[in-house]
Amino acid sequence: MSRTVALGIDLGTSGVRVLAVLPQGEVVAEVTRSYPLLTPQPGWTEQRPSDWVDASLEALKEMVRKLAGYDIAALGLSGQMHGMVPLDAYGEVVRPAILWNDQRTGEAVVEIEQAVPRTELIRRTGNPAITGFHLPKVVWLRQAEPENYARLRHSLLPKDYLGYVLTGTMAAEPSDASGSNCFNLAAKVWDEDVLAALAIDAGLFAEVIASHEVTGTLKAELAAATGLPTDLPVVAGAGDNAAAATSLGLSSRHPELGSVSLGTSGVIFAPLKEATPDPEGRVHLFCHADGGYHLLGVTLAAAGSLQWYHDTFAPDIGFTELIARAEQSPVGSSGVTFKPYLAGERTPHLDPDLRGAWTGLSLATNQADVIRSVLEGVAFSLRDALDVMAPLTTLVSGLATGGGAQSPFWLQMVADVLELPLTVPRQNQGAAHGAALLAMQGVGLVEDATRVTEGTGGRLVTPQDPERYREPLVAYRAGHPN
Ligand code: XUL
Repeated sequence: MSRTVALGIDLGTSGVRVLAVLPQGEVVAEVTRSYPLLTPQPGWTEQRPSDWVDASLEALKEMVRKLAGYDIAALGLSGQMHGMVPLDAYGEVVRPAILWNDQRTGEAVVEIEQAVPRTELIRRTGNPAITGFHLPKVVWLRQAEPENYARLRHSLLPKDYLGYVLTGTMAAEPSDASGSNCFNLAAKVWDEDVLAALAIDAGLFAEVIASHEVTGTLKAELAAATGLPTDLPVVAGAGDNAAAATSLGLSSRHPELGSVSLGTSGVIFAPLKEATPDPEGRVHLFCHADGGYHLLGVTLAAAGSLQWYHDTFAPDIGFTELIARAEQSPVGSSGVTFKPYLAGERTPHLDPDLRGAWTGLSLATNQADVIRSVLEGVAFSLRDALDVMAPLTTLVSGLATGGGAQSPFWLQMVADVLELPLTVPRQNQGAAHGAALLAMQGVGLVEDATRVTEGTGGRLVTPQDPERYREPLVAYRAGHPN
């Protein structure tokens, strides 16, 4: 058995996860460390980049202890997308990082839309101006904190900042850069015309290299501090969605296979060969880590809706029992519909202020109907996302991931509502695993990161009777609001 591993880091919102992975894809060790989320005002989310660095170095040190006897060949980066780490001329952090789920940039989005027509921005960058994306944060800094903006010389994405600290080199890669609102998808360069229209210097953004390329090597003092090899190659990696898809073997060479995640949020990932945006910008279009592209449909509260129901109305019942009760209600939840917009919505509404709702409640409604309506509402909101994606993709099946996919009842419902066969993959190690695979590709240990786990199979769930959800879907769509 090979004793060579690559490390992958996922710099998440609640913490950092480091995996050590063999070239065959098997995980040999895992270390996690958490850090705080700062919410200085309602709707604002921030993190201290120094917390990311401290937690990552601690995790790497712990990983080295676990890997006695292994050769560590490379380190790949992945992490939360869209965030802004503002740096001054000396590479020092100017203010805390503003995160992907921050909602402060409404006025900045308006300023961008006034400077660049919406259709033009979508055509060039794949997406309309979106509050959580990177460029609106830069514009917000200029509007709201001019003294910090005056010091701004570099604006980095979270994992790219970590890469800079580790190697001393600033670099970006297409999958994360394409979540910025200022990255030209066709040319895979920062869009100087968009930036010029906003009088923003393109030099703020780091040089873009391919996701599997080596950014630089680990600084000697950090090698000494962590026990990692000196000159360890650090690979650019990918944003968390593209990295997780890489781990699942999803490739733009095979756009017929995507993924559906029933995590806190619900995500449909559809690989694409060409950069074909939805002209109305209702679904995200980003670069994939393999040189192609992908669509990303997001419903913000998927398993998060069930969690909310549980915490608010049934904290003493376990999730298995909760879903068993839902099974007592018929298809269509006896006329009850639930809109899962508890945290606003991305696809297809793109409205952070949208809110959830139940309709169709009556004196005859029971708890089973209400719980089932939550499960169905999430499935229907995923269907809304898939319908927007459908004309742009050739998707015919998906890999199902996330906590919600552990429920056979919910998964069958989602397969029926989406009319899509879903496979629960044998291994699902997430973004850190994909980052490790990209690192292996970067140093030549594997030829193609997406091929390591490609086609490993799993439990298949095929649509059984999609017809029976047609009427409930119509009722859901007719329900207030929208
Ligand atoms: C993608 C997105 C999230 C973040 C958080 O558009 O906002 O998936 O990457 O991890």
